[in-house]
This record gives sequence, C-alpha cells and structure tokens, in this order.
Amino acid sequence: MTLKELAAHVAAEFQQHYGRAPRWIVAAPGRVNVIGEHTDYNDGFVLPMAIERYAVMAADAAATPGRISVYDTHFKESAVIDVAGPVTKGQPKWSNYIRGVLAGFQQRGQKIPALDVAFMSTVPLGGGLSSSAALEVCTATLIEAATGKAIDPVEKALLAQKAEHEFAGVPCGIMDQFISALGREGHLLLLDCRTRQTELVPMSDPSVALLVVNTNVKHELGSGEYAKRRAECEQAAKIIGVKSLRDATPEQLEQAKDKMSEVVYRRARHVIGEIERTTHAAEGIRQSNWPTVGQFMYASHYALRDDYEVSCKELDAVVAIAENIGARGGVYGCRMTGGGFGGCCVALVKAGAVDAITQTIATEYQAKTGIAAAIFASRPAAGATIIKG
Ligand code: GLA
Repeated sequence: MTLKELAAHVAAEFQQHYGRAPRWIVAAPGRVNVIGEHTDYNDGFVLPMAIERYAVMAADAAATPGRISVYDTHFKESAVIDVAGPVTKGQPKWSNYIRGVLAGFQQRGQKIPALDVAFMSTVPLGGGLSSSAALEVCTATLIEAATGKAIDPVEKALLAQKAEHEFAGVPCGIMDQFISALGREGHLLLLDCRTRQTELVPMSDPSVALLVVNTNVKHELGSGEYAKRRAECEQAAKIIGVKSLRDATPEQLEQAKDKMSEVVYRRARHVIGEIERTTHAAEGIRQSNWPTVGQFMYASHYALRDDYEVSCKELDAVVAIAENIGARGGVYGCRMTGGGFGGCCVALVKAGAVDAITQTIATEYQAKTGIAAAIFASRPAAGATIIKG
C-alpha cells in the first residue's frame, strides 16, 4: 500500500468507527539500518533510511474532555488514555508507546487535547524495523498537528526515545526515532550520534536496490541482552579510559586487552570496527561504489555474529544464501539489521535482479529453516509527515 492509499484507508476506518471524517492525518515511517549497528549508544555513526512502511493516525477533537481514544484498526482494539492529569503507563501494552510520548509533551508544559484517533501500521511488529519508533514519532506528529505547534525534529526524536526508555523499558539509542522523524525521500541519513549532526546521503542510483528480508523469527532474549551489551560497552570504555567507545582506537583496545574479559574485548572490537565501517560505507555510497559498500555490510554481519553475538541462525542463513548468490547473481552485500536476535536482514542488490534474488532467498530460506520469510524492496522514504491538517 502506498502512503496515500494507507492514509485513505485509515481515514475510512476513522469515519466508520467514529461516524465522522478525521480532521488530521499523520504518518511516521519505520526504518532499516544499512550499516552502523549497536554504535548509536556508543556515540558512533549510523546510516539508516526510512522505509515505505508507516504508522498512520487519523484523528479529530473528541467530545469527551480529558481523554484520548485510540482505535487500532488492525487488531480492532481500543485504548483509552486519561490525559486530564499526568499520563501514566497502562493497558493495552502497545498504548505505552503513545502514553510515553504524551507524557513527554506534558513535561514540556504542553496541555494534551482530547482526541479520537484511528491507527494502523504497516511496519511489521517486532521485526527489527522500528515499529515502536514509528508509533512514537507518529504520536508526536499528531500532537504537533492537533496543537498547531511544531517542535524541533531533533527534540521530537529525543522525546520519542525517552518514551521508549521510560514507558517501554528499552534503553535504546537514538537511531530509530531520529530517522523516523528526520528521514528524507531518496536519502540515507548519516548520523553522528555524539554531536547529532546529520548528513543526507543521496541513494538514487537506479541500478541498485535495498531488499529487506524478514526472517519472521523473534527470540525473546532480545531486550535483556540489549541492556547487557550496553553495559559491556561502558565497561570497555572505562577500562580503556575513554568517555565512550567512539573515542577508542583499535590500538588502544589492543593495549587494554589484558585488563578486560575476552567477551568485553570482542564487544568493543565490534563497536570500534563498526564505527569505522560506517563512515567508509557512507563514502562508498557517495561514490556509488556498490561492491565496496557490500563488503562493509558483510564485514558488519560477521562482527555482529562473532564478536557482538546478536545474530541468530535464521539471520545467518539469509546472509549465507545471499553470499552464495554472490555478485554474479546481483548481491553486493547483506547483513542483519537492527538490534538482532531475529528480525530482518538488509541486502544491497542490483535492481534488475530483485525478483530473481527474492525468489532464491525465499525458496532456500524456507528449505533451510522451515519458515517463510517476508521480503520486500524499499526506496528511501520521507520521515514523519502531516498528511492532512
Ligand atoms: C535497536 C535500538 C537502536 C540501536 C539498534 C542497534 O534498534 O532501538 O537504538 O541501538 O538496536 O543498532
């Protein structure tokens, strides 16, 4: 579904559920990270792009004051959020992403208007494509539309990140909310997570495409392991004597090797290498040097698999299939993307070979794992937008 079709669909659902037309329609995309994994909370670089999968909300002012009703058009379930006082955590569970953002606006001194909302998302849930960031940034965009007060997009991303920390309990970095808020059509976003400086890197060469391969597995150990990795990185930085791993060189790591456990050493080796790979890959993209970009993507995957240990056998299977297809078959590179432990891979491929590659990966992945993958190509999409209002 295109964004336009999706917006029309959610508007129709709003009309049916609430018996009138919506006054505002807003959207925020999910993302795929091309390279720069587990670097954001180490003050490093990331290179994500917004994808053509969105969280969309249609809304109008509500008659009943002091509350927001959100109707999930897919699961046919509603959340009623009390906004008369400070917004708190509550049920259903997914409403906490919304609640967290509303609380963030309240902390900025913003009174939350009473709203009726219909909601739908085409970002696969729990697939490592930032469905939660899309929902958070979408909510923030709705509040901007409904109050008529735009906030700085960087502030908006930070507010959404805080919601994820405090209402969803995930100590995530800044990448997902940032790209959902600041993505630009036809561009990747090179983000320096320390300075928050961004550079839009054009990705408009028609001869290449990015394929997202959803393994359709999610291993529950994900969230606890994420926090553990963060702690290990902090420990490594402390031992090396730097503020964060962004400041550490490979030589410094080698010098400090004996003072840290083998595991902490490997975690740091991934992060320090990945920060470097990301800036090199960005340079490769600027020059349309696709074979080089692809090599950095593979190298990123191996480090995530062997040093950082956030891959899983299904993600590894996709990468192995992609490697097997190889440059001859049109694959430049492939790697797991996002937090890991399931979710998606991203592959850089020749545009003309997309259909053949999709077929091969689907067939071989199913044969290897017994699971059906979901595979789609996406162009770099725009970040959060007010479609109506
Ligand atoms: C998750 C987090 C991000 C980032 C990635 C790993 O998506 O939300 O902040 O840390 O994992 O790169």
